Amino acid sequence: MSIYGDYIKSVIRTVPNWPEQGVNFRDITPLLQNSAAFRKLIESFVHRYRDMQLDAIASIDARGFIVGAPLAYELGTSFVPVRKKGKLPFKTVSETYKLEYGHSEVELHADAFRPNDRILLVDDLIATGGTMLAAANLIQRSGGRVVETSTIIDLPELGGSQKIRDAGYGVFAVCS
Ligand code: PRP
Ligand code: HPA
Repeated sequence: MSIYGDYIKSVIRTVPNWPEQGVNFRDITPLLQNSAAFRKLIESFVHRYRDMQLDAIASIDARGFIVGAPLAYELGTSFVPVRKKGKLPFKTVSETYKLEYGHSEVELHADAFRPNDRILLVDDLIATGGTMLAAANLIQRSGGRVVETSTIIDLPELGGSQKIRDAGYGVFAVCS
């Protein structure tokens, strides 16, 4: 839990039975609409990472960008978009991961960062952890060093953050 964790949690909306029956969807749009809350959210990440000598913030298409870009701006690092398959125009490297039904794929530009760059990987939410883990493995495989994986919301009962830790990455969540 972070400095503003309880407050941030209080401005996240739960939408029952969306996108399907039985799912409680954690909706961050009320948090984004609230300028004070949005500032505190970014400050939570800045507070944790300002002294970690990061070279780049990588974040995951699309909701991860909402956090990743202002964080890179504030910390003075470069910004690396990890995108869903087929969106990046230059030479790419990719990693496939399993969904409940079928597969998905994340991609990086081959020249997105320098070898051994210290990279923070950010997304909005960890559910099964498949997306974050695939992105972290892709960055490591491409020669970057994942300093930590970081999220606004962890859903620990789904086991995703534990899976990411078991694979050897740190996990930070503003709230759970
Ligand atoms: C959501 C969320 C994470 C991922 C978490 O993204 O933003 O990236 O799912 O799920 P997981 O831990 O089970 O992998 P989504 O694919 O809905 O894309 P979006 O950001 O474009 O809405
Ligand atoms: N909220 C937002 N994104 C998600 C969720 C959720 O509860 N579960 C999987 N992706």
